[in-house]
Amino acid sequence: MTEAKLIDGKAAAARLRAAIGAAAAALKARHGVQPGLAAVLVGDDPASDVYVRSKTKATKEAGLNGFEHRLPAATSQAALLDLVRQLNADDKVDGILVQLPLPKQIDAQKVIAAIDPAKDVDGFHVQNVGRLWSGGESLVPCTPYGCLILLRETLGADLAGAEAIVLGRSNIVGKPLAALLLGENCTVTIAHSRTRDLPDVARRADILIAAIGRAEMVKASWIKPGATVIDVGINRVPGADGKSRLVGDVAFDEAKRVAGAITPVPGGVGPMTIACLLRNTVVAACRRRGLAAPAGL
Ligand SMILES: NC(=O)c1ccc[n+]([C@@H]2O[C@H](COP(=O)([O-])OP(=O)(O)OC[C@H]3O[C@@H](n4cnc5c(N)ncnc54)[C@H](OP(=O)(O)O)[C@@H]3O)[C@@H](O)[C@H]2O)c1
Repeated sequence: MTEAKLIDGKAAAARLRAAIGAAAAALKARHGVQPGLAAVLVGDDPASDVYVRSKTKATKEAGLNGFEHRLPAATSQAALLDLVRQLNADDKVDGILVQLPLPKQIDAQKVIAAIDPAKDVDGFHVQNVGRLWSGGESLVPCTPYGCLILLRETLGADLAGAEAIVLGRSNIVGKPLAALLLGENCTVTIAHSRTRDLPDVARRADILIAAIGRAEMVKASWIKPGATVIDVGINRVPGADGKSRLVGDVAFDEAKRVAGAITPVPGGVGPMTIACLLRNTVVAACRRRGLAAPAGL
């Protein structure tokens, strides 16, 4: 039996990062502009700390300016909103990322709403969400955009007519990805925890997206032979050696025998997320100055 083609997110992210590096160098040479990303971390959650560190590192490696703002866990909402306003006004800052989750005294929606939509590189501001669904120019959430790039690279630029099933309806992944796929003229279904007969629904998919946060829940029997499977899930489970390991939402070892193409975890969607964040920062830097977005981004 032939196995699914492995969709190499690490390689795709490296190509995108190279294109971002080239675009950043050209912006500097031609316009004296160095795009800047400000990452804000409130508190000392270890996972968030790792994310922010790796985002700042990747930012600098791509030739962008990276600014880190670390605030204590007890920071008030007013103080955080104040920082966001300063970053909105700072011309060196093209992208603002407030790492979620935030401590409980802070209303994340209020903070997201305070970010200048033109600098909202996470694509979470209602203006960007609305534009994504209504077809206007927006900044698109990074993980869904990374999935779309992987799909285009695997299936070609024309996804029209494909039956796309998105498992998961979060604002961060499922919903924006459904909007993007609709924009590509796919026939889109969003499934969730209340969906009846989930395996039956999933089996209709030419493109199956798993974004549910349930370790290896999607079995081979849920997959139409030859389907393209994008596994967004990142779940830590106990490994045989007593250490933990990362798995996706798809039972990879069995799924790869049925799917036509599939992303591994790790090394699939994950690496695309940070690359798309850098991409959004460069795009935001160009748009804010009325410059055309660089080719290849
Ligand atoms: N690769 C990356 O860079 C990246 C980025 C973001 C997230 N992730 C990962 O992607 C996964 C999803 O993240 P998220 O932020 O979208 O999660 P989330 O906010 O928890 O949303 C999960 C979605 O899955 C649905 N769901 C949960 N259990 C289900 C079940 N048993 N059957 C059907 N649907 C079910 C939920 O349905 P209801 O709405 O009905 O509750 C919800 O819509 C997580 O593993 C996360 O770690 C990865």
